[in-house]
Amino acid sequence: MEKNINELKEIIASSKRITVLTGAGISAESGVPTFRGSGGIWRNYQVTDVATPQAFARDPELVWEFYNWRRDLINKVTFNPGHKALVKLEKHVNDFTLITQNVDGLHREAGSRSLLEIHGNLWEVKCTKCSLLTMDRSQNMGKLPKCSQCGGLLRPHVVWFGESLDPDIIHKAIEASQNCELMLIVGTSGVVHPAASLAHQAKAGGAVVAEINIEQTPQSGQMDFVLTGPAGKILPMLVENFN
Ligand code: OAD
Repeated sequence: MEKNINELKEIIASSKRITVLTGAGISAESGVPTFRGSGGIWRNYQVTDVATPQAFARDPELVWEFYNWRRDLINKVTFNPGHKALVKLEKHVNDFTLITQNVDGLHREAGSRSLLEIHGNLWEVKCTKCSLLTMDRSQNMGKLPKCSQCGGLLRPHVVWFGESLDPDIIHKAIEASQNCELMLIVGTSGVVHPAASLAHQAKAGGAVVAEINIEQTPQSGQMDFVLTGPAGKILPMLVENFN
């Protein structure tokens, strides 16, 4: 492990183009539950009840109840040393892109700037009638929140299962994956596409790929480095020589 970390630190120091992909695992140490595994959100909620356009059409109150629960939870937590380490890394790399599947906004809050939130952001809401997009940090949006402009029903501006990702954002994510020299894949189970295919694209483009996770994933076998441990511990070690 130590040898792996030292080797990876050298690659980081000499790489001009680094792309990082994060998933729920990076926020786990902040107290945000992951989706899969023990204690995962999908153990207590059915995806089809709360995270699909059909669920929202059928029972928007139930979907808002779920998102209000998540707002309340995430409102109480903050970024952790893993998020901060990526802010530090961004400052030292010429061409840096952070792609996250997380909607909790903690990367932004920590100070990451070159950020692609491919699944959207929990704090943004979109009107289902006039499409007005607004930022709303309310801890609780109420049962059926309405648009201030037209009175239409608001929805969370997140990507639900069965929906397409924003084409501009996913295009940038693919480009950043194909063109990097090093890709770090942090705290994701690597089972949700298209995010899961980005590591493959990076490798096909000639990049070194490294996984940081507390356990093995279906993608571990394709990695050049597998660092097993919490992101909040490993990421700070990788950037400890930077200011
Ligand atoms: P998952 O819950 O599927 O996976 C979380 C990963 O984080 C697992 O591989 C854990 O082993 C790992 N993990 C947990 N704690 C960790 C820690 N402290 N340090 C490092 N790794 C840790 O979450 P995602 O892969 O993000 O999509 O899930 C992908 C997408 O599926 C989500 O964006 C969400 C979900 O359904 C939508 O809602 C559209």
